[in-house]
Amino acid sequence: MEWYEIEGPTRLDGKIAVQGSKNAALPVMAAALLFSGTSVLRRCPDIADVRTMEEILESVGVCTRREGDALYLDCTDIKCTVIPRGPAEKMRSSVMLLGSMLSRCGSVTIACPGGCTIGKRPIDLHIRVLEEMGAKIRMEHGMLSASCKTLRGVDFTFEKSSVGATENALLAAAGAVGTTVLRNCAREPEIVCLCRFLKSMGICIQGEGSDVICVSGSVCRSAGEFEIPADRIAAGTYLLAGAASHGQVTLEGADPGDMTALLEVYQKMGGQYEYNSGKLRTDSGRVRLPEGLQVRTGCYPGFPTDLQSPLMAAFSALSGLGSIEENIFEDRFRTVGELRRMGADISVSGSTAQVRGRALHGADVSACDLRGGAALVIAGLSAGGITRIYNPQYIERGYELMDEKIRGLGGRMYKRRIP
Ligand code: EPZ
Repeated sequence: MEWYEIEGPTRLDGKIAVQGSKNAALPVMAAALLFSGTSVLRRCPDIADVRTMEEILESVGVCTRREGDALYLDCTDIKCTVIPRGPAEKMRSSVMLLGSMLSRCGSVTIACPGGCTIGKRPIDLHIRVLEEMGAKIRMEHGMLSASCKTLRGVDFTFEKSSVGATENALLAAAGAVGTTVLRNCAREPEIVCLCRFLKSMGICIQGEGSDVICVSGSVCRSAGEFEIPADRIAAGTYLLAGAASHGQVTLEGADPGDMTALLEVYQKMGGQYEYNSGKLRTDSGRVRLPEGLQVRTGCYPGFPTDLQSPLMAAFSALSGLGSIEENIFEDRFRTVGELRRMGADISVSGSTAQVRGRALHGADVSACDLRGGAALVIAGLSAGGITRIYNPQYIERGYELMDEKIRGLGGRMYKRRIP
């Protein structure tokens, strides 16, 4: 059994290098399949979800190799189109293989995706757009079988904004005959990153970052090198850890342009920051929870749902009264119960959590999803006494060497295990 052990309270001070973005790297890894030859992804985070995606790619014949922070994906030969259940069921991003394998070889059999239990997380939007482009998709016994002779360009409007469905549609459109126009697309930075990767490999795309994206499919495509951008959610998590502990944390490699919604909330809380030459310096000496501060999660550029739990942990540890409304996932308050075990005063009504901040105490708690686990780390660093966080594997899905990075900021966080 393994757990993270944290002794608080600790003020976090110092600098950390922000990892490459998990949610940008995963779709780009799937997109590498479109190109015969070796793609080199620099600043690719070494986290469990990336290793799971490597396993998925290897199962269809891709040769993967890591050298430092660079991941080499040799996608010259695709030998198989059936992906084993195990890795595919571990995370949500396996669903990206629908679009990329249909583009590359016109067929794929894969388990329905897994991922954090933060809601129902259907894939109806993914299936609808791929069928519109000519794919035949069958779902039975938890397995998806998709095939098509040729994907064709379409003019398609998404019923609602979906990051993953937009990404899947882009992967299919890249290999389709003709032009695809996608409307009501997600605008997250991870979509822009995927489009930048596809464009660097010869695909013609316009409109990324807006809600209308136009793709001219192409068969002549070549692999190459690409740098994964900073993880805006990991950066935001460490910023909030510093805020909860009134520390001064410098985030090296962060891009504040992708973090505006969080930075606005941080300033309302009294946080101060400056950005120059790739470093985001934060000073949380005056951070408080102002009475009546309200935060609502939303699609980009709104406040990211992935920082909802970390923000709730920071609110819980700061004196004041604030509320957080979750508008993206219907079951993303599961960490509330664990924070309450640490003394947090949180009341939930529908999709809104009211938080009255107070001094927290250490406790034995369990992570139940990736970002909820990160929230428990933030709470543990601010709480008085020892906090043990079980199910650390959730945290390790998305945060690279989190305990090491926290220790680098002066925090006392250690990985413990008993045989
Ligand atoms: C991506 O998930 C991210 N995951 C999530 O981050 C992130 O929270 C989410 O986008 C929103 O920003 C990855 O990129 C790997 P959606 P995704 O499709 O694509 C509903 C993390 O912690 N929906 O934008 O699954 C869905 O249920 C993870 O790093 C449908 O109804 O999110 C949700 O309510 C968690 N039908 C809403 O849309 C569909 O076919 C937004 O989901 C697809 C989605």
